[in-house]
Amino acid sequence: MQAWFCDNPIGVDALQWREAPTPQPQAGQVLLAVKAASLNFPDLLIVENKYQFKPPLPFVPGSEFAGVVEAVGEGVTAFKPGDRVAALAGNGGFGSHAIVPADKLFPLPDAMSYEHGAAFAFTYGTSIHALLDRGRLKAGETVLVLGAAGGVGTAAVQIAKAAGARVIAAASSDEKCALCKEIGADETINYSSANLREALKALTGGKGPDVVYDPVGGDLAEPVFRSIAWRGRYLVIGFAGGGIPALPWNLALLKGADLVGVFWGDFVRREPAGFQRDMRQLGQWYAEGKVKPLVHQTLPMSDLHKAYAMMSGRQVIGKLVLTP
Ligand SMILES: NC(=O)c1ccc[n+]([C@@H]2O[C@H](COP(=O)([O-])OP(=O)(O)OC[C@H]3O[C@@H](n4cnc5c(N)ncnc54)[C@H](OP(=O)(O)O)[C@@H]3O)[C@@H](O)[C@H]2O)c1
Repeated sequence: MQAWFCDNPIGVDALQWREAPTPQPQAGQVLLAVKAASLNFPDLLIVENKYQFKPPLPFVPGSEFAGVVEAVGEGVTAFKPGDRVAALAGNGGFGSHAIVPADKLFPLPDAMSYEHGAAFAFTYGTSIHALLDRGRLKAGETVLVLGAAGGVGTAAVQIAKAAGARVIAAASSDEKCALCKEIGADETINYSSANLREALKALTGGKGPDVVYDPVGGDLAEPVFRSIAWRGRYLVIGFAGGGIPALPWNLALLKGADLVGVFWGDFVRREPAGFQRDMRQLGQWYAEGKVKPLVHQTLPMSDLHKAYAMMSGRQVIGKLVLTP
C-alpha cells in the first residue's frame, strides 16, 4: 500500500507519501481499497496536533472515506470482500488501503458514488444533529448559517431547507454567497463587506435569527449573539476562524437565549441510536434529492498538500475529495 504518513504532527509539510506493507485485518477489522477520501477541517487540526483526538504515531490522516472491502478479519459478518462501504474512522483514509474497525463502516447505497460516500456522513451528520437535535429547529423558523459555503456550512444550509426553515447564509465572498443561493439559501450576507448586524436586522424585521449555526467563531460570534432572536439557540460548532470567542453572559440572559454545544463525534459514540436515526433521515433526503454533497473539486491523492492549502486558505466551496 501507499499512504500519507504523519510521523511528527508539526503540520502538513511534514506528511510523507510512502510505501508500506499492506496490513492484514485482525479480529473485528476490515481491509479496504480506498476509492475516495474527503477533507474535513479536523484532518487539518490533527496533523498540527491541535485536535482533541491524538492518534499514536505514525498515523495516516483522513477521517472520512469510501471504498471496496478487500478482506475481513475473524468475527466480521456484516461485510464481505467486494462490498461498497463508507468509513468514519477518525484517520487512515489518505492512502490506497486502510484498516478499519467493522463498526466504523456503513454500507454504501448503490445510488451513492464513492465521492459522495466519502463526503457525506461527517458534515451532514454534524449538521442534522446540530440543527434538529441540539438546536430544536422547527419549520418556519429562521436559521443563520455562518461559514455557509464550507463543508459543514453547505450541509447545514441544505438540511435547514429540508426541515422547512428559512435560511440566511453568511460567507466571506460574493462567489460563496452565490453558491449558497444555488443550494437553497433564501438570503445571503457577505460578512467581508456588509455590516452583519444591520443586515440581520433588515432581513428579519428586527427580530433576529431563531437559530445560529456557527462553525467559524472568532470575532463574528459576539455581534451575532447580540442579534439573536428571543429564545434563540446559538450552536457552537467550531472555530475555523482560529479564535475561541468569549461571550458576556448577560447577553444570554437578555435574549432568553441558549448557547448550545455540539460535539458530533461524542454524540455518535454515546448515542448510537440517535446517530442511526439521523443517518436514516439523511439517507431518505439524499434519495429525494434534498441533500447532496457539493464537491468543489476531486484531486489526486498526491495533491494532498494543495488540498490542505486550499482549505486553510478559505478557497474551498463545499468539499474537496481525493482519489488514489
Ligand atoms: N462540533 C462538531 O462536532 C464538529 C464536527 C465537524 C466539524 N466541526 C468544525 O467545524 C468547522 C468547519 O469545518 P469544515 O470541515 O466545514 O471546514 P471548511 O469546509 O474549511 O469550512 C470552514 C469555513 O470557515 C470559514 N473560515 C473563516 N476563517 C477561516 C480560516 N482562518 N481558515 C479556514 N476557514 C475559515 C470559511 O468560510 P468563509 O471564508 O466564508 O468565512 C470556511 O468555508 C471546523 O472548526 C471543524 O473543526 C465541528
